[in-house]
Amino acid sequence: MADIIDLSAYGPDFVADPHPYYAELRAQGPVHHVRIPEGQEAWLIVGYEEARAALADPRLAKDWTRAGITLMGPEEPVEWEFMNMLDADPPQHTRLRKLVAREFTTRRVEALRPRVQQITDDLLDAMLAAPDGRADLVEALAFPLPMTVICELLGVPDIDRETFRAWSNELISPTGEEESAAAARDMSVYLAGLIEDKRQAPGEDLLSALVRTSDEDGDQLSRQELLGMAFLLLVAGHETTVNLIANGVRALLRHPGQLAALRADASLLDNAVEEMLRYEGPVENATWRFTTEPVEIGGTVVPAGEFVLVGLAAAGRAAERFTAPDTFDITRETRGHLAFGHGIHFCLGAPLARMEGRTAVRTLLDRCPELALDTGADALTWRTGMLMRGPHHLPVRWR
Ligand code: HEM
Repeated sequence: MADIIDLSAYGPDFVADPHPYYAELRAQGPVHHVRIPEGQEAWLIVGYEEARAALADPRLAKDWTRAGITLMGPEEPVEWEFMNMLDADPPQHTRLRKLVAREFTTRRVEALRPRVQQITDDLLDAMLAAPDGRADLVEALAFPLPMTVICELLGVPDIDRETFRAWSNELISPTGEEESAAAARDMSVYLAGLIEDKRQAPGEDLLSALVRTSDEDGDQLSRQELLGMAFLLLVAGHETTVNLIANGVRALLRHPGQLAALRADASLLDNAVEEMLRYEGPVENATWRFTTEPVEIGGTVVPAGEFVLVGLAAAGRAAERFTAPDTFDITRETRGHLAFGHGIHFCLGAPLARMEGRTAVRTLLDRCPELALDTGADALTWRTGMLMRGPHHLPVRWR
């Protein structure tokens, strides 16, 4: 068996820009046995066809118990946050997804458009009031827009959002084992309280609707599943779109020719957002999968009971699928990018994310004809961990 590649040996450059490293790995083969910087061993898929096939392969399970792997000790109960569709296999996955799928269709999302536009306008009003004509785009727009939208949709009160953000960040990019365990605990207590509030005083929001579903038919959505659903929607709803806006605007501002083309022809917007997703998507690698039996991937047999990481960022830069993959070109054919995943776990929120991304980029360009990266934008710090790709801050100026 080939040696294990220790990704932590790549150092901080891998966090700042992983693409050259993925390209080097891809040149050697589509699948590699690696140790990720956090310490776990996994099989990392960097080839396009192999990544796409793996995302749709039922032998790569999401439900930890089924894979016979215990990340937590065997005596530990299943944690509430794992009782969600993204960590479930059929038939549980099918059941959980069906309960909320109708809320996220393109038609339902269209109805949210005026409100998304309003939130964007308000955020930009506040940003453009800065007397020096400068701001951190993450703080001013990329984070608060999706956060406000998903909180309003689910019915999370304004007042709790900053606390929620801190917990969520800790879970997605942990700063330590204790810190992330504390965040999980606090968030669980908070969500349980919120669900209880919705039970006592239901509103028009999605969480109230889900509480009703579980009350009317007890075995349809257990208490843990309700918590898991609230957790997944809130975290998936805002940890990702923030990076679409930040990475996407950064790519545009670093490619003045592309920026000028988009300003000159607004009909390029939808494809520009797809190119942002392909070129520098928010999710670097899909969530953990586990082999339930030995699985041959791109000529390598991955034994049973192993972790598999599917490289979505790597697949987006694969020359076997995209011509000149390292070139940011908003007019290219973007079909087939895997930024939203593929198969049964394909992103439920894709229509919402696309609508938010398009609204943010269009409104930002309209209102800031002189928008540019500001000092410091060439030395950004990036989210750590293998899951998310996005800068902590993005300094911009518009004068
Ligand atoms: C640009 C923004 C977004 C990106 C790039 C993104 C990406 C993804 C990806 C790659 C997956 C599949 C992960 C895997 O197979 O391991 C996924 C699943 C999911 N996403 Fe998103 N997402 C985004 C926004 C959203 C939003 C706004 C929501 C809002 C509700 C959302 C909800 C979900 C849910 C519920 C799943 C699990 C689906 C399932 O297991 O069937 N996402 N997303």
